[in-house]
Amino acid sequence: MQYDVTVIGSGPGGYVAAIRCAQLGLKTAIIEKYDTLGGTCLNVGCIPSKALLDSSEHFHNAEHTFKEHGIDIAKPKVNIKQMIARKTDVVKQNTEGINYLMSKNKIDVHHGLGSFVDKNTIKVTGQEEKTISTDKVIIATGSKPSTLPFIKLDKKRVITSTEALELKEVPKHLVIIGGGVIGLELGSVYARLGAKVSVVEFLDNIIPTMDSTLGKELQKSLKKLGFDIYLSHKVTAVEAKGKEVTVTADTPKGDKLELKGDYCLVSIGRRPYTDGLGLENAGVKVTERGQIETDEHLKTNVDNIWAIGDVVKGAMLAHKAEEEGVFVAEQMMGQKPHINYNLIPGVVYTWPEVAGVGFTEEQLKEQKRAYKTGKFPFKALGRARASMDVDGLVKVLADKETDEILGVHIIGARAADMIASAVTAMEFRASAEDVSRMSHAHPTYMEAVKEACLAATENRPLHI
Ligand code: FAD
Ligand code: NAI
Repeated sequence: MQYDVTVIGSGPGGYVAAIRCAQLGLKTAIIEKYDTLGGTCLNVGCIPSKALLDSSEHFHNAEHTFKEHGIDIAKPKVNIKQMIARKTDVVKQNTEGINYLMSKNKIDVHHGLGSFVDKNTIKVTGQEEKTISTDKVIIATGSKPSTLPFIKLDKKRVITSTEALELKEVPKHLVIIGGGVIGLELGSVYARLGAKVSVVEFLDNIIPTMDSTLGKELQKSLKKLGFDIYLSHKVTAVEAKGKEVTVTADTPKGDKLELKGDYCLVSIGRRPYTDGLGLENAGVKVTERGQIETDEHLKTNVDNIWAIGDVVKGAMLAHKAEEEGVFVAEQMMGQKPHINYNLIPGVVYTWPEVAGVGFTEEQLKEQKRAYKTGKFPFKALGRARASMDVDGLVKVLADKETDEILGVHIIGARAADMIASAVTAMEFRASAEDVSRMSHAHPTYMEAVKEACLAATENRPLHI
């Protein structure tokens, strides 16, 4: 079998790269070691976690907000088996969608572990062994959960996100190590379903890579949901015995904290995945952190091999991987694509949702850049009051001299969708005044962005 380009890995990076290569006229193959396409994102990541977030949110609302809306129902009960079954069905619909896209674009799919024999030859070890000859290669092998050396992930009581998406019962007490995106999203799922949730975070804020206002505000909402959050705590031991897991941590004062739960979710980040890929046979270099080393064109040190997504540097996000897939395909064909990494938004699908793009206030301080801040609270919005989603705020950071928007940080209902407007404005290098003079439909959550821009420009919001 001879191809112009072969993509290894079918996550959002790999399958999008394959589609773009095929659209550009290249004879394309994709190799995936699992039976289903779609990678982490579709099978055990973005899609199943959002399916459970949506189901648990319905349950939470039925239990807590329906009454105030004037809807009287009998006390709702969780049917975890059905909830997980619906999630599995959502995943199936999505992964089957990728099969359709591969066949529509005439991309050959090979199931099995892809491993370099040399830089133009890949062995696929699956139900049958095949050898593929290829002119170019795109590595998109993604990532796997990280752990700590002293933690034994038994995947029954001490689990990763993958098992947390498949639980057969609602935990009584879920202890989560790591207050990042996975911990807070999956913690929210089970807290809404009635679990006690404790989060042990090493740093002094949750979601620490985002603007610090967001983590501080989110903590307030999660505490209302019943989360116990232990910041600046260093986990020193995790021990599972029967149905009990004990997590021990050093407190900031130097004391010991001991938490006993029935499940412990380890969510302290993910590591690039290259096991079994035979990179040494092609001469591809990796960094000290295990990422495949690439230049600014995402090309590796080997001239016919590129790498994208979670396996290279940068944010481990599906939409970042997708942009890189398109970028590499277009590069190969001599086009001049561009990715503005500063404008790749980050979103946390808790309630309220959290989203940010551009520079954080901490980064601007570090750069010693002169900036202005405009904030607007959701509770001052008619739309937010109508739906009772009044937690949160929008924070706009703009250059002090030019008024150019440098960062937009939102916590509140629908933040995940609203952030796209901030990306658009910033891609066109809008000033805060530009946005504040554009008509925003009333009543919408987006009015909070307009108001925060008014606050940033001339400190003259209209509704506070
Ligand atoms: P992956 O999606 O990891 O795909 C890599 C694929 O390569 C896998 O299918 C793997 O089996 C295959 N592979 C590896 N080695 C080989 C080999 N040698 N031969 C053949 N196949 C191989 N991101 C978001 O943007 N939004 C979200 O809401 C979000 N939610 C998430 C929730 C969870 C619980 C998790 C774990 C992650 C989430 N992410 C989210 C992150 C997102 O899933 C990743 O950033 C994204 O999947 C990375 O895409 P990728 O194509 O680089 O790799
Ligand atoms: P993360 O990097 O988001 O968070 C890890 C957290 O663990 C950080 O707060 C970190 O300070 C903390 N931590 C690290 N070591 C620790 C230790 N020893 N003890 C206690 N805390 C420790 O990683 P997470 O949540 O595992 O997610 C992995 C990746 O998946 C992320 O990069 C994220 O981008 C992606 N993802 C994206 C989602 C989204 O876009 N909505 C949803 C879920 C995952």
